[in-house]
Amino acid sequence: MRTRKASCGPLVALAGLVTFAGLGGCRGTEIEDALDEVTWFSNMRDQIAVEPFEEPARMPPEGTIAVGAGAPLGALPDDYDDVANPTPASEASLAIGKESYEVYCMVCHGPEGRGGGSIEGPFPRGLINRLTTQRARDYTDGYLFGMISVGRGLMPDYRRMPQDERWHIVNYVRQLQRTAPSED
Ligand code: HEC
Repeated sequence: MRTRKASCGPLVALAGLVTFAGLGGCRGTEIEDALDEVTWFSNMRDQIAVEPFEEPARMPPEGTIAVGAGAPLGALPDDYDDVANPTPASEASLAIGKESYEVYCMVCHGPEGRGGGSIEGPFPRGLINRLTTQRARDYTDGYLFGMISVGRGLMPDYRRMPQDERWHIVNYVRQLQRTAPSED
């Protein structure tokens, strides 16, 4: 759609084009207003591009999830209880999970999830739950993912960690639970 920016009559505009004067009451600069009225001049200002607000904003269809966004953000680990683990526990996944676990979790939960992390001492041992208890085994994968995503109590959140990395850690924690001696 072609928008007319000047509101003066064509005669006045043509006069403006000729004299470059006498268009005091028009919007825009005189030369621009004049060019706008005289349609056989092409000018760079009047293009076929969609102008701002010319069309309503194009919104994504309902239910769209941004690429890479994955699970919706919840406030508590329980909110993630039913989220299914999309990442098979392949060898590659477990290798990444192990590496990340050792970077982020081991300091508190220890190398095998059974305590003994380097934070113990300044931090009282009993406050950090072991990851190999029956309680922790009974959590769903989604809940473990939720623990990493939003934290709980004294446990910090790792929401800035890419979601696939969190799932690799979940897979690795499962492996620690499988290989740990059974306890309480
Ligand atoms: C700064 C220390 C710290 C770090 C680092 C940490 N945790 Fe924790 N974690 C805790 C504490 C403290 C709790 C107990 C929280 C509570 O009482 O609610 C906990 C609890 C948990 C639980 C729940 C156990 C239960 O019995 O309910 C899981 C699962 C868990 N952490 C996994 C992880 C994983 C996976 C990582 C690495 C991404 C991690 N934690 C990093 C301190 C930490």
